[in-house]
Amino acid sequence: HRPPGSIAGSRPTGRPGRSPSTLERIGVSDHHPAAVIVLAAGEGTRMKSAVPKVLHSIGGRTLLGHAVHAARSAAPQHLAVVVRHQRDLVAPHVGELDPTALVADQDEVKGTGRACECGLEVLPPDLSGTVLVTMGDVPLLTGETLRELTRHHEDSGAAVTVITAELPDARSYGRVVRDEHGDVLAIMEHKDALAHRAAGDEFAHVLDLREINSGIYAFDAELLRTALAEVGTDNAQGEKYLTDVVGIARRQGRKVVAHLVDDLWQTEGVNDRVQLAALGAELNRRTVEHWMREGVTVVDPGTTWIDADVTIGRDTVIRPNTQLLGATTVGADVVIGPDTTLTSVTVGDGAGVVRTQAELAEIGPGASVGPFSYLRPGTRLGAGGKIGGFVETKNADIGEGAKVPHLTYCGDATIGEGANIGAGTIFANYDGVTKHHTSVGRHSFVGSDSVLIAPVEIGDGAYVAAGSAIEGDVSPGQIAVARGRQRNIDGWVARRRAGTSTDRAARDAARPTSSDDTPTQGGSR
Ligand code: UD1
Ligand code: MG
Repeated sequence: HRPPGSIAGSRPTGRPGRSPSTLERIGVSDHHPAAVIVLAAGEGTRMKSAVPKVLHSIGGRTLLGHAVHAARSAAPQHLAVVVRHQRDLVAPHVGELDPTALVADQDEVKGTGRACECGLEVLPPDLSGTVLVTMGDVPLLTGETLRELTRHHEDSGAAVTVITAELPDARSYGRVVRDEHGDVLAIMEHKDALAHRAAGDEFAHVLDLREINSGIYAFDAELLRTALAEVGTDNAQGEKYLTDVVGIARRQGRKVVAHLVDDLWQTEGVNDRVQLAALGAELNRRTVEHWMREGVTVVDPGTTWIDADVTIGRDTVIRPNTQLLGATTVGADVVIGPDTTLTSVTVGDGAGVVRTQAELAEIGPGASVGPFSYLRPGTRLGAGGKIGGFVETKNADIGEGAKVPHLTYCGDATIGEGANIGAGTIFANYDGVTKHHTSVGRHSFVGSDSVLIAPVEIGDGAYVAAGSAIEGDVSPGQIAVARGRQRNIDGWVARRRAGTSTDRAARDAARPTSSDDTPTQGGSR
């Protein structure tokens, strides 16, 4: 077990946070926070999952991935992620997302206030400036909103700035209580507001307030540190509330303001799988709209799914029921779909990909793929090349202008430029124990229904006759014929299939055909 607030995980030695040169490059001139603390220690019981809530994904990134991405794009000097629940899974993921992020462990004291305190413990003790606090389960929050929050906070001279939103139904959110100047007086948790309603005291009305606390804030670092030390656990949930910092700041005569956002999705957290799907759909709607505004034609936005890290060039057309996932990169003037799923695939300009499933593959400019093609990892199709219908490829380097047009399995192969692989060719790469490699030279021609039994090498400018089983190398300029010779046996049908329709057809065919040449009276029909 780790001591509270200890630095854990993957802080690389000799690289404590970002170097000054990095900061200069991203331009740390003004309104860049000193730190962002991402809270991700909570349990997420309503997910009913073996996987920690923040490791569930939408748009091809985990919820925590979205939070870290937004935090990083606010260009803070330090980034800390507070973990506790399933830390064995969450902490390594933080390292994958951002090796410079600091992992802070929350101890057994519960609440957002304690989580934040643990986050501060991995940051420099004399940290000054603005500290943003965000949550690991709020995936649609953007870096732009965090930059606006920081600017508003620093320009207003507030000690605390809270992102708030007005909801038609404030549900179980913390309520924002404002004073007569419109500044924030306090944030009251739902359960505590319920208690005041029941008591009928001066805070009985708080339950009816519709402005809610998003749980995302900007704090003055010094104020946050000293105020959190004062926060107790005397409340309806017996937790250390981060929201109590607001009241403490006000009692110290400091200013607390609200940064009201209209875009409610940005403050919405994921608690269960219904919200996961709803936020996933909204994220996708936003991503698809973004690419349409960048010059991509999306025929049916409702059935098009584009992950957050995908890029697409201008005048590309995406037809219905297409998913562009992972680190997929699509060039300009490409046509994709319908019914296509590309996962971390690179597609060159002007290519066409129809009814295809592909993963970790490269499709060259002007190349054509599909319909009904399955490109597995390590497939590289050169410029102007073709992978056609019912073709499966894996670890296959297919040269410029080479064609694998029909019904082929092509694994562990190199195919030279301009080569043609006939219909039904099988690259037999597996002997039951080991995978072997096949190469087909430049401008070579493999006849239909051949089996190339690896390891084997077909030279440049060579031919393989249709129906061959090739197990020996073929040199440039040769043709390899490896199949049984054809034998025609006269009278076989008459002897062995006498009286069948086949036999009758054979006899009809054998009859003299002179009448065909001589027009019959009355003409023929
Ligand atoms: C919190 C706010 C509430 C706000 C709401 C917005 C407090 C006391 N209340 O309530 O005003 O309207 O968020 O969603 O802050 N977390 C930890 N460690 C903990 C507890 C929570 O890291 O001990 C993290 C969770 O992983 C989560 C976030 O903090 O990402 C919010 O926690 P949650 O328990 O959902 O807080 P709420 O009760 O919803
Ligand atoms: Mg919550």
